[in-house]
Amino acid sequence: MTASSATHQRIRVWDWPTRIAHWTLVTLFALCWWSAESDHMRWHRIAGYGVLAVVWFRVAWGFCGGQTARFSHFVRGPAATLRYLRSLVRPRAEDAPSPIGHNPLGALSILVMLALLLTQTTLGLFAVNVDGVGSGPLARWVSFDTGRRAAHLHSANFELLLVMIAVHLSAIGFYRFARREHLLPAMIHGFKQRASPGETPFFVPWWRAALLAAGICLSVALLLNIR
Ligand code: HEM
Repeated sequence: MTASSATHQRIRVWDWPTRIAHWTLVTLFALCWWSAESDHMRWHRIAGYGVLAVVWFRVAWGFCGGQTARFSHFVRGPAATLRYLRSLVRPRAEDAPSPIGHNPLGALSILVMLALLLTQTTLGLFAVNVDGVGSGPLARWVSFDTGRRAAHLHSANFELLLVMIAVHLSAIGFYRFARREHLLPAMIHGFKQRASPGETPFFVPWWRAALLAAGICLSVALLLNIR
């Protein structure tokens, strides 16, 4: 056994609510895209409400979830992000420590993606179809023109989301092939290998996620039933 493999440690980095939220989001996003392209608007609305609920959940989980899911843990200022960016151009040493959660650059892209997803779902709630049929559930609260503007912005924002997702996937590929960091398996099973001992993140009990998810589903249902 070499000195480096002897010190390799398997640590849990992502809690299951963060992972379930991520893969549910991926599935619902794909469903939203497919249903819009194929004009299955009933499915589009259902998947869109799902995205709204998951994004609300993820934002709330960023304040009360496990350590690595918290915004306070992974959001960094411009100086730390620039320092991290500079470190990326240097070759990575075999035993160099990698962040236990999101790195500062990943954190930035995640904030942008969450903001775009919130914008996307909110615009969808108010969007009005050309013929007024199949509009968002809150479209009755705005004028026809405002609803049409919301629909246009909904389409434009979707393009931005696609760009961000392409950046997201390219970054994961970059870490895999240029930095030998395997981010994808960790988002599936929750564990990462660490070359040197360090901080061990804390996690919170499962019922906190269950209570939050129930509260959010109720809030979305109430929102959709506003008359
Ligand atoms: C098959 C496609 C995808 C793969 C393989 C993937 C993979 C990953 C991985 C590995 C991470 C963790 C990055 C890290 O360690 O810092 C992550 C995080 C994240 N991804 Fe994806 N992703 C995919 C699609 C998407 C899509 C479509 C969205 C949004 C619409 C998305 C939104 C996010 C968000 C918001 C996070 C942060 C997770 C959190 O902290 O809750 N991903 N993704």
